[in-house]
Amino acid sequence: MPGLRIAVLASGRGSNLQALLEAIAAGRLRGRVVGVFSDRPGCRALARAAEAGLPARAVSPRGFPARAAHDEALFSEVAAVQPDLIVCAGYLRIIGEDAVRRFMPRMINIHPSLLPRHPGLDTHARALAAGDREHGASVHVVTPALDAGPVLAQARIAIGPGDTPETLAERLLPREHALLTACVALIAEGRLLPDAECPRLDGAPLRRPLRLGDDNRLHEG
Ligand code: GRF
Repeated sequence: MPGLRIAVLASGRGSNLQALLEAIAAGRLRGRVVGVFSDRPGCRALARAAEAGLPARAVSPRGFPARAAHDEALFSEVAAVQPDLIVCAGYLRIIGEDAVRRFMPRMINIHPSLLPRHPGLDTHARALAAGDREHGASVHVVTPALDAGPVLAQARIAIGPGDTPETLAERLLPREHALLTACVALIAEGRLLPDAECPRLDGAPLRRPLRLGDDNRLHEG
């Protein structure tokens, strides 16, 4: 199938990878996953890739003297599949500046918070601790500053009085899947253009992140 050549980076369960594969199979996303890459041999994401018959490679950071050397080894494998877009979907290692710049702005990340709120780890617990009324997920362009590149799209959920980090994570996950697949589909259609400074939608600067609606489509404003 023609379309966007997508490389996926993942470290864990790989449910976002699975969502992308299902969207492609259902004809909702015009593209194909040309490789799955991980820093964690044996992770579920790699098993899912193998089950789907996709090229899957793990490069463990063990044995590399520094972050840059590991990045170089992993990302030369990524470059070899000639991706149009690299999707970090639960890739839990910080990517060094050289590797980021090599692919910028063709690398995006899904992060479980309403950026710029709560970059980094433990986002569900931090949203609760901060007394936030809303939580969510963001898809953003990867730039050298952690979780700080332009946000392309967000999904929001309300926080209720009985919520815990676990209930938030559980409720957010299906919204993450819809958000990521819709966002990658728009990129594949050539409508959404990632950029490290000024992403564009239909040729016009994207003034604020697109919003995932109840219809699982992305809307302006
Ligand atoms: C997701 O919550 C994603 O936002 C975060 O890590 C989780 C990955 O889940 N960065 P999965 O591996 O795709 O199931």
